[in-house]
Amino acid sequence: MRSHHHDHDDQHEHGREHGHGHGHQHGHHAAAGNGEAAMAEILDLDAEVMHAYMSEVTAWIGELTADAPPRRILDLGSGTGTGTFALLRRFGRADAVALDVSSDMLRHLAERARELGLADRIRTVQADLDAEWPALDPVDLVWASSSLHHMADPDRVLADVFATLRPGGLLVVAEMESFPRFLPDDLGIGRPGLEARCKAVLDERRIAVHPHFGSDWGSRLTKAGFAIEDERTSAIELTPPLPPATGRYAQASLRRLRSGLDGVLSADDLATLDVLLDGDGPASLLRRDDLTVRTTRTVWAARRP
Ligand SMILES: C[S@@+](CC[C@H](N)C(=O)[O-])C[C@H]1O[C@@H](n2cnc3c(N)ncnc32)[C@H](O)[C@@H]1O
Repeated sequence: MRSHHHDHDDQHEHGREHGHGHGHQHGHHAAAGNGEAAMAEILDLDAEVMHAYMSEVTAWIGELTADAPPRRILDLGSGTGTGTFALLRRFGRADAVALDVSSDMLRHLAERARELGLADRIRTVQADLDAEWPALDPVDLVWASSSLHHMADPDRVLADVFATLRPGGLLVVAEMESFPRFLPDDLGIGRPGLEARCKAVLDERRIAVHPHFGSDWGSRLTKAGFAIEDERTSAIELTPPLPPATGRYAQASLRRLRSGLDGVLSADDLATLDVLLDGDGPASLLRRDDLTVRTTRTVWAARRP
């Protein structure tokens, strides 16, 4: 079964609840070139901006596990833990293992878990799944969001997930189609179509860096022995007026993109990007009222028979 969702105006009530100060990004984290810190910020902002969508996804997992709500959850490639936290809020009696290769991400996650009062329900495990699967107790639910495409051999990882899930347990895989789009085609500055040109460069690079991105996860899951229970593709389009986190999300995302574009885009396009990224300027992403968030995300729910 495949269902399509269109989320439009439900973004107003969120965006404030986390109150992320960015004051924690000091020391080496403040360096613009620190890819990990920049990624952590993007993951947190993504969760803030996409709060309503994530809440729908966890509600859907709740329906699929209504007979036996999960008690032991594994978040595979947890990043900063936005999935772990959302699932623990949804499943009040569950504990989670947050697994990631990055100890920086896990540190960030543990700090946030303490702030949220969830620390005693989360164990972090640092492991490189390309190297080997760590020893883990059986779990009821595995959540893998935007992480499987990072793996060198996702099919081997899926076999390990299968073995770690209890029979009847559920694996939920979430992947996005591409970088979210934020900008109107005509910005009123520079040549129209800037974001489309950025996206084209990014899509090309992504294929080189993450060859499994955009893979047919449904058939890979089936091959690994899972029974697909449901698949949902959501075409998300958040439109103005949007909360201020949207500007920060666009800024963090485009700033990360900008760092690899010298000599790739025209000098004109780079200058326009710099105007957008300038936090104080009148045309800055933080001040614009014409930003949207457009992204397509798919989730698969796969049961270990
Ligand atoms: C795009 S992030 C997604 C994070 C989080 N699941 C989310 O949706 O916000 C991908 C995560 O996978 C982790 N990762 C990549 N390769 C990995 C590997 N070989 N073993 C374990 N984790 C890995 C990265 O460190 C990163 O935190």
